[in-house]
Amino acid sequence: MSEFALEIKSLSHVFGSYRVLDNINLQVLPGQIVAVVGPSGCGKSTLLKAILGTHPPTQGEILTDGMPVRGPNRNVGIVYQNYALYDFMTAEKNVSFGLKLDETSLPMRFLGPRKYFAKRRQHFEKSRAFLHQVGLSDACGKYPNEMSGGMKQRVAVAQAFIMRPKIVLLDEPFGALDEAMREDLQIMLLRFYQENLIAKREGRRPEYTILMVTHELNEAIYVADRVIGLSRFHTQGENGAAIVYDRPCPVFRPDDPRDFSKFVEQREELRKAVFDETFIKDRNDYVTFWRELGNLADSVASIKK
Ligand SMILES: Nc1ncnc2c1ncn2[C@@H]1O[C@H](COP(=O)(O)OP(=O)(O)OP(=O)(O)O)[C@@H](O)[C@H]1O
Ligand SMILES: [Mg+2]
Repeated sequence: MSEFALEIKSLSHVFGSYRVLDNINLQVLPGQIVAVVGPSGCGKSTLLKAILGTHPPTQGEILTDGMPVRGPNRNVGIVYQNYALYDFMTAEKNVSFGLKLDETSLPMRFLGPRKYFAKRRQHFEKSRAFLHQVGLSDACGKYPNEMSGGMKQRVAVAQAFIMRPKIVLLDEPFGALDEAMREDLQIMLLRFYQENLIAKREGRRPEYTILMVTHELNEAIYVADRVIGLSRFHTQGENGAAIVYDRPCPVFRPDDPRDFSKFVEQREELRKAVFDETFIKDRNDYVTFWRELGNLADSVASIKK
């Protein structure tokens, strides 16, 4: 097992003669919730598709849990903005469908029905546990047309996590939801993060490693423990967008007040470094995550001495 849930090495992507992404390097630890922000068209979805394995990068390598990504695989899950569920399946069936495809087959159903139905029972149990996890215990038997947009997004999140991927990609997952729904789902992610902390404390591998694209800077800093910014506004911007911002951000607990004034400074720094086209800087000026993490670890170690 690798130390990193996700590792991106020297990734570049070109469409025709247009270089979208230039030399992206990124390492994500298990249990991190990383927000990705950047101007529209800078290549955020292109990067996610490369990680998912559906659209390989022109150059570079992507590893999940130390294994090279060579196509869509079980290590990576994704939830889009308008994620489509199967209309003819209940929430419970939608969530367990991936396991059905993965762990059962038609011959098994007819040749070993007892084993097949035992397996399916297990899948439904797991499905209910994950629906509970996303706050939908009461909606297991509901069909998509009986659920709100926010509920459907939750089902999609449960569907992704039930496969126990090493990392889940969220591409503007809450973009189409109203404010209250959006807040609810943000709190769901904060709850996942708390579970990660408990797992780490108990020496287990944290379950929820997430890379989330969002255009909402408050959401990015509020939900994530680390935020990266993709942008062409750096000195070699003609070569494509680079990671021009990578810093830790404050961690909120689910029951903390949503006090965005706590990180006004970081939000303005992020806005300037990533979105201000008149502010051209070296691509590494705001890429300080690992250094800051090291300092943090040092200071904790010195307190303990
Ligand atoms: N299949 C494709 N063929 C050619 N160009 C493409 C293709 N897909 C994306 N592009 C271009 O690559 C660039 C990055 O697109 P991408 O969708 O990754 O941006 P994004 O950061 O996700 O934008 P948004 O915030 O609007 O979702 C854009 O200029 C887009 O026009
Ligand atoms: Mg996009």
